[in-house]
Amino acid sequence: MLSDKDLDTIFRSARTHNSWQDREVSDVTLQAIYDLMRWGPTSANSFPLRIVFVKSAAAKERLKPHLSEGNRAKTMQAPVTAILAWDSRFYDRLPELLPHNPDARNWFAGNEQHAETTALRNASLQGGYFIVAARALGLDCGPMSGFDNAGVDREFFPDGRYRSNFLCNLGYGTAEGLKPRGPRPDFDSVCEIV
Ligand SMILES: Cc1cc2nc3c(=O)[nH]c(=O)nc-3n(C[C@H](O)[C@H](O)[C@H](O)COP(=O)(O)O)c2cc1C
Repeated sequence: MLSDKDLDTIFRSARTHNSWQDREVSDVTLQAIYDLMRWGPTSANSFPLRIVFVKSAAAKERLKPHLSEGNRAKTMQAPVTAILAWDSRFYDRLPELLPHNPDARNWFAGNEQHAETTALRNASLQGGYFIVAARALGLDCGPMSGFDNAGVDREFFPDGRYRSNFLCNLGYGTAEGLKPRGPRPDFDSVCEIV
């Protein structure tokens, strides 16, 4: 069981940040996020997520023209911006990832709609694991869908195999630009126990 303080860090006090301290995020820390989030479950252990950590100034410049106006300044300021993408051919790795079921690749190969639905569902789940892992390691996140997906895909995934889902700024946040915390619905208006 995690402590109340740990639960605050991951959920209750964690905010979506719009401004960043001038503090580097090391490559070792990025690897540590991955080493945690990779254990989150995906259907058939399909693991469709692919990540590009945009960290160098040169790579940030490649991202810049594809960001929405409102997301541009904070993304250029962030120490790292992760492109969370999905592999449209994720099923090619199923013989390796689900070795006890040699038939698993055939559930998806040649059935593009089923493959895409599965990839998006599971890569989005993995994006959630990614945010929780980063917060557990003391980082702050700024997830964003305000960007030109097709433009990012042309720039970073020119062979068309990987497709961007959302971006996530990473670093150590400041309070600048924080809006008041939005309320969350209470249990009874969202959940039922039957
Ligand atoms: C998938 C996703 C996409 C988002 N896209 C944007 C965005 O493009 N620009 C932005 O300023 N905030 C974006 N947000 C931030 C949300 O508005 C924010 O996480 C939400 O209001 C909760 O804020 P809080 O974590 O501070 O409580 C996005 C969040 C998620 C999870």
